[in-house]
Amino acid sequence: MSKKEVRALSWKRKDLLDLDDLSAQEIELILQCALPMKEVLSRPLKKLPTLRGKSIALMFYENSTRTRTSFEIAGKILGADITNFSVAQSSVNKGESLLDTAKTLQAMNIDLVIIRHASSGASEFLAKQLRAGVINGGDGQHAHPTQALLDFFTMKERWGDFRGKKILIVGDILHSRVARSNALGLKKLGAEVVLIGPPTLLPPEMSYLGVRTSYNLDRELPGADAVMALRLQLERQQSGLFPSLREYNRLYGLTKERIAKTGKDTIVLHPGPLNRGVEISSDLADSVQSVIEEQVTNGVAVRMALIYLLMGGGTGNVVA
Ligand code: CP
Repeated sequence: MSKKEVRALSWKRKDLLDLDDLSAQEIELILQCALPMKEVLSRPLKKLPTLRGKSIALMFYENSTRTRTSFEIAGKILGADITNFSVAQSSVNKGESLLDTAKTLQAMNIDLVIIRHASSGASEFLAKQLRAGVINGGDGQHAHPTQALLDFFTMKERWGDFRGKKILIVGDILHSRVARSNALGLKKLGAEVVLIGPPTLLPPEMSYLGVRTSYNLDRELPGADAVMALRLQLERQQSGLFPSLREYNRLYGLTKERIAKTGKDTIVLHPGPLNRGVEISSDLADSVQSVIEEQVTNGVAVRMALIYLLMGGGTGNVVA
């Protein structure tokens, strides 16, 4: 599809819950819409009147630095009012249910809820019950669609097109909502995706995602255009899912020497937070091949685009 055709598309969804039912054209529309949003971020005065009078509630039941802060910044730049719902100081601690909490916020005329929750399906549950729009900021081991979209934006800025690109996603695939959302979306965009990890963190059923899997990182490196390291959830070691950090690092840790085996000008991504020296070496994370900080900046632009599409314009034809 040409840029003009993508801009002519209109957004019809109330919610963004996962990438599995989004078409490649809808993904392209979000990425297209994020371009002028990124330009706004470089202005000295980063403020638009677009969503003045609209309100957004951030409901984060799990810890977050990047997702929560970037949604807050994105909403504020677009002129919306942001309510940062603090679970620790709320009536959740008196036993109030997720649905009652969300309906209470809706009764205060919230237009959009952004939720992160430890339970897979929490955002879909809310979306079915609320008039307000819902964006999934990460639910259990299920999906993290806005992380995947900012990853796509970062790759697209470098390449323009995903066709013919080989992307390796390395680490704890089993527990990773980032890996799942990336694999689903990248496949739709025409990239070759390989999920890589130790057998205990990459069970055979992961092939349901329709992408290739491998236990051998070094064998897959030649020809890779991007390598994404996932955060190793260190608590998994206690469950016996990998023998030791040293062993994991030896087989799956990304280093400058390892990335050189791609034979290409490969970019290195990580959703954060990083375990430096475990899934990625410090010198690689801070190198010119690393786009980790670009991912964070692009996260604001992509989340601005999503908020705008869900609450405001409905088309990629943004006049910012
Ligand atoms: N990548 C990501 O979701 O980071 P946070 O947990 O800091 O939001």
